[in-house]
Amino acid sequence: MARILFDNVTKYYASVKAVDNLNLEIKDKEFLVLLGPSGCGKTTTLNMIAGLEELSKGDIYFDQQIVNFMPPHIRDVAMVFQSYALYPHKNVFENIGFGLKMRKYDTAEIDRRVRDAAERLHIEHLLDRLPSQLSGGQRQRVALGRAMVRQPSVFLMDEPLSNLDAALRISMRAEIKQLHHSMQTTFVYVTHDQAEALTLADRIVVMKDGVVQQIGSPDEIYERPENLFVGSFLGNPPINLLVGELVSDNAGVIFQKGRFKMEFQEEISTKLQPHIGKSVTLGIRPEDVNEQGAAVPGLSVSGTVNTVLPMGSEQYVSMTIEGTEAFFRLGKEHKHKGGDNISLDINRNRLHVFDQETERSLLWG
Ligand SMILES: Nc1ncnc2c1ncn2[C@@H]1O[C@H](COP(=O)(O)OP(=O)(O)O)[C@@H](O)[C@H]1O
Ligand SMILES: [Mg+2]
Repeated sequence: MARILFDNVTKYYASVKAVDNLNLEIKDKEFLVLLGPSGCGKTTTLNMIAGLEELSKGDIYFDQQIVNFMPPHIRDVAMVFQSYALYPHKNVFENIGFGLKMRKYDTAEIDRRVRDAAERLHIEHLLDRLPSQLSGGQRQRVALGRAMVRQPSVFLMDEPLSNLDAALRISMRAEIKQLHHSMQTTFVYVTHDQAEALTLADRIVVMKDGVVQQIGSPDEIYERPENLFVGSFLGNPPINLLVGELVSDNAGVIFQKGRFKMEFQEEISTKLQPHIGKSVTLGIRPEDVNEQGAAVPGLSVSGTVNTVLPMGSEQYVSMTIEGTEAFFRLGKEHKHKGGDNISLDINRNRLHVFDQETERSLLWG
């Protein structure tokens, strides 16, 4: 059983505030992902759970117990590092079993656990090899195995897939998810890759400059971003952003940028009523469009296709809306080329509106 609680935790390195007043409850057996760009404080947060970094302020609890000064080896946690950190002169068996040996487990138990982990990770045929004789993906599995045999109540992973090629990353995601399911322990997983976070997490914590931006399920974070940073960090290609103004119209509140207008649905329009006259950023995700025949002002975007980016199963077309380039996703059955005039119907249920000044969503949060 391990619930982890951060209570007003701050971490300074000299004058750098790496983590700024973190309040977070990680539930027992949860798969929690810390997501954010490089330098936002993810590794520091993970290291504080592991006991590898001291806190500058606040407390960390494991269940009901404050663990601020508990040394790492007493905490029931295991960590997989980005670099794998394998012992180069030990073979796979010895690498996986080393932690147990140090903890004086008997030989039969070490043997049982190492073979069990190796089997689950499909590396049982590699136990005699040295790390230098393994591929990147195999080394990654050894690092996972070493953490698994400890049977920790908290499993910490710091960008464990970032050194793997794209195809392997995707298959390892599925395996890590499976691993969480079978181990039934708390996972805290760090990544800068939004797709990885959306696939793996029960809940995502989005961080920027040491500050939590939003905490929620993958759907909440993707569909109801509470600020511009969260909206633009998740999504590939990123959300299209148009800077304009909220104005009053006989259709209710509408967004206007030059000659481009977008009407909102009634419910959203009502929510935006108090903000008429504000400068805002309108967000339209590339996938929230459908092709249609005629241009309908206020309900569609229309224009000339700049470029078409085929992606195999789908394609992205770009067009310029009042000086801003925007990308939209279409099915591959649409045969467009640069120079074509098209109109796209916008799914207006799914528009985002951010205050230009505060960057906060005017719709959610
Ligand atoms: N040992 C350290 N000494 C000084 N500054 C550090 C140290 N470790 C991290 N930092 C700084 O703290 C901030 C957060 O770093 P880190 O937690 O490693 O971010 P992330 O893992 O999200 O990339 C960064 O500004 C980084 O430069
Ligand atoms: Mg890091």
